[in-house]
Amino acid sequence: MKILGIETSCDETAAAIVEDGTKLISNSLASSVDMHGLSGGIIPEQAAREQIKSILPVIKHTLSGAKIDHKNPAEVDAIAVTFGPGLIGSLLVGVETAKTLSLLWNKPLIPVNHLVAHLYANWINPTSVSPLPQFPAIGLVVSGGHTDLVLLKSHTNIQWIGGTRDDAAGEAFDKTARILGLGYPGGPAIAKAAEKYLRTSGLKKKLDLFPRPLIEDKSFDFSFSGLKTAVLRFAQLDHRESIFEVAANIQEAIAEVLVNKTIRAASLYKSESILIGGGVAANNRLKEVLQSEVISNHINASLHVPKPEFCTDNAASIASAAFFYQNPKPIEAINADPQLSIV
Ligand code: KG4
Ligand code: ZN
Repeated sequence: MKILGIETSCDETAAAIVEDGTKLISNSLASSVDMHGLSGGIIPEQAAREQIKSILPVIKHTLSGAKIDHKNPAEVDAIAVTFGPGLIGSLLVGVETAKTLSLLWNKPLIPVNHLVAHLYANWINPTSVSPLPQFPAIGLVVSGGHTDLVLLKSHTNIQWIGGTRDDAAGEAFDKTARILGLGYPGGPAIAKAAEKYLRTSGLKKKLDLFPRPLIEDKSFDFSFSGLKTAVLRFAQLDHRESIFEVAANIQEAIAEVLVNKTIRAASLYKSESILIGGGVAANNRLKEVLQSEVISNHINASLHVPKPEFCTDNAASIASAAFFYQNPKPIEAINADPQLSIV
């Protein structure tokens, strides 16, 4: 079964064809991130305007990459589209385009939750060294606006077990990068600066300048707004640490909290697999800390981290999630929902 996935929840316009939820056939993406970099953050109206311009060319490019005729896409079995959460103007571009194509081509339309889809990046193109995840699995979704821990008992049984009480991990990266003057998006900027520090200094010196919020708390909740305040206070003081060292400290604080809760959840729920997804999952240090904690805590679960291009927003994950998890709905029943939660 070939599904055309469409993703426009934030500043990306993406389309992909995925076969049977796992085999990526064609994938395209246009991003307005450079434009937002100039203003230091996303301007929703501008993002949606760019998406209106690029949505049809991106879909056409994806179909042609799969050698499918866009006038008569007989090989496409269904269309899947992100219906939330995200920016309303951006979501509407994808949802309305998908509805129109569904009517025009007479194909079923499957609405997809963007946050759940982030975890489905782990189902794309499995190999013998990175096989498919097994249930029960613990899923950590770390995107720009959301941080959630879920227990996946099956494709259709997903339970929320914790999440952030205030800022998301991605938001913590973006806001602290702004404080340090490192630009937007903050995650990759902090990661790059931290890498520079770690390349020369390694882990000789403890990276404990900043608090690990809620790390001792028994719940699976997170809180990152205090970290932002701590970084702001630190930046206002006279200090000897370079910006690279400060970045490494921020990254470490975020990674440690995320990993601590994920490992605890994996152990409590005896999970067979640990999945991460969302833009922050592209962080190399997070992956490193997670890998080493899985080993040192004797967690008997396979660890799944998507390739960087499938951590950040993409349409392949949308098509994959649609195959395994979601149901087609009549177009009248599908509406963009900017506040949609993970379950
Ligand atoms: O999932 P995503 O692409 O979009 C949303 O659904 O929000 O996530 C974007 C977030 C941003 O906060 C960005 O700074 C962060 O992911 N991010 C990273 C990295 N790459 C992107 N954070 C840490 N390290 C990275 N390498
Ligand atoms: Zn996302």
